[in-house]
Amino acid sequence: MVYQATTSAPVNIACIKYWGKRDTKLILPTNSSLSVTLDQDHLRSTTTSRADPEFSKDRLWLNGNEEEIKPGSRMHTCITEMKTLRKKTVEDNDSSAPKLSTYHVHISSFNNFPTAAGLASSASGFAALVFSLAALYQLPVSLKDLSLIARQGSGSACRSLFGGYVAWEQGSAANGLDSYAVQVAPESHWPEIHALICVVNDAKKGTSSTAGMQRTVETSALLQHRIKEVVPQRMENISKAIHEKDFDSFARITMADSNQFHAVALDTSPPIFYMNDVSRAIIAIVEEYNRVSMAATGHLRAAYTFDAGPNAVIYAPESSIKEIVQLILRFFPQQFKDPFGLFREEDMAGKVPEGFNEGVSRVWEVDSVKGLIHTKVGGGPRVLGEEEALLNLDGFPNE
Ligand code: DP6
Repeated sequence: MVYQATTSAPVNIACIKYWGKRDTKLILPTNSSLSVTLDQDHLRSTTTSRADPEFSKDRLWLNGNEEEIKPGSRMHTCITEMKTLRKKTVEDNDSSAPKLSTYHVHISSFNNFPTAAGLASSASGFAALVFSLAALYQLPVSLKDLSLIARQGSGSACRSLFGGYVAWEQGSAANGLDSYAVQVAPESHWPEIHALICVVNDAKKGTSSTAGMQRTVETSALLQHRIKEVVPQRMENISKAIHEKDFDSFARITMADSNQFHAVALDTSPPIFYMNDVSRAIIAIVEEYNRVSMAATGHLRAAYTFDAGPNAVIYAPESSIKEIVQLILRFFPQQFKDPFGLFREEDMAGKVPEGFNEGVSRVWEVDSVKGLIHTKVGGGPRVLGEEEALLNLDGFPNE
């Protein structure tokens, strides 16, 4: 009997940013956050887990390379928590159930997007890991319960257990049991939200989220204002905007929160700069696009957001995404892959809308933006078939 499961989990990009921990071991945040889950057809982590009494220790391979599972590490915590849950919810109640919690596991995980793209893979990676162990162990638990464990791998990973629009409630309990993810609305509620990820060329290695946010907690006075006075209201307002499919409010809040997150990074000592000149040019282009759109229609049509690096994610309704791609291509010439087949060859030429002030940015060298990924809001983790397994018959990564 082979005990094995393969699953995939999506990437999520926050509109209200998680930045700061009140407990670094349990990964409990200083504020609630909210994200959009992106479609796994374009970006995903896939993980196969197998439990076998013949295995001599727990082992993990990421994109084919073995990673050590250090005692006390986040990976170690997640695997241990999942084994404990197997014992408590299955084996303690049914003495005939195989004692999988006592077997070692082999885990192989693969991201379908290059790490070099600078997209965070920890959220989808830990969500896929926890979800694959839950499938392997046949746990009778909710996604909320799994989010409590994924959170201990990487905070933002708890939000990747759900599709659509997802909040991470900060909670207040010292043991973290009320700090979990909840779905604000499924992807089917507002499927028109598309995302354009602009992968910005960046040679230098920036400050990691984990280290950066800790420094912000220790030194930024502005973070305290953000936590107390700003985020609670924004969480409420953006949830309402999502329920009402009010893109104007969604966009305003998303852009303001990205900007405030980068302001608290700058307010950190020593200061942290995640955005670069290309990031700022993309802000200028989206702001000008919205100005023109406001004048013409009274509505916003795009929202930028930036995580702990220079890449931009532009959220936009499906109806304006084509125009936005053309705008980006106008200022950042490159080859664009078109997953939704929205473009004809002649559309690929950069074009600006009527009334757009082209003076807001220069035209950048080829490869300043080295890739564009066009995707949309998508669903939660999936259980996959055996044919997609990443371990061979002997329980080692496929070639
Ligand atoms: C800027 O979840 O990567 O992307 O909990 O230390 O692993 P750790 O941090 P991580 O931080 C993500 C920060 C962010 C904002 C967000 O996703 O909410």
